[in-house]
Amino acid sequence: MSESVPVRVRHGDGAETISVERGRILRDALREAGFEVYGPAARVANCGGRGLCATCGVRVHEGLDEAGDEPAADHWHDALAARFGYPRLSCQLTVERPLTVDLIQEGYWGQLLPRRD
Ligand code: FES
Repeated sequence: MSESVPVRVRHGDGAETISVERGRILRDALREAGFEVYGPAARVANCGGRGLCATCGVRVHEGLDEAGDEPAADHWHDALAARFGYPRLSCQLTVERPLTVDLIQEGYWGQLLPRRD
């Protein structure tokens, strides 16, 4: 039996906590729960989770609030994103521990917004 992990998803209308099977790709878990990680054009023109198009960005923190650190980056793009404060690729994040995810309201295909702290 697989273990589930809570993921708090913050979006324009508030926040919800979903239960995600440990080891799932964050992008897939979010979309299956009805949350959209893509902007309008990228919904139909994305790389399918291969880490190539950079359109599936989210802000993410360890734990169930925004005070936690960002998860460690494995993908080269994610390492740069973490270093320079850009959104992380949800298709390159595996859910292993509780997370807080902020969905980004992207207006353009591939748009990446710098952090606004
Ligand atoms: S879906 Fe293309 S980089 Fe994530």
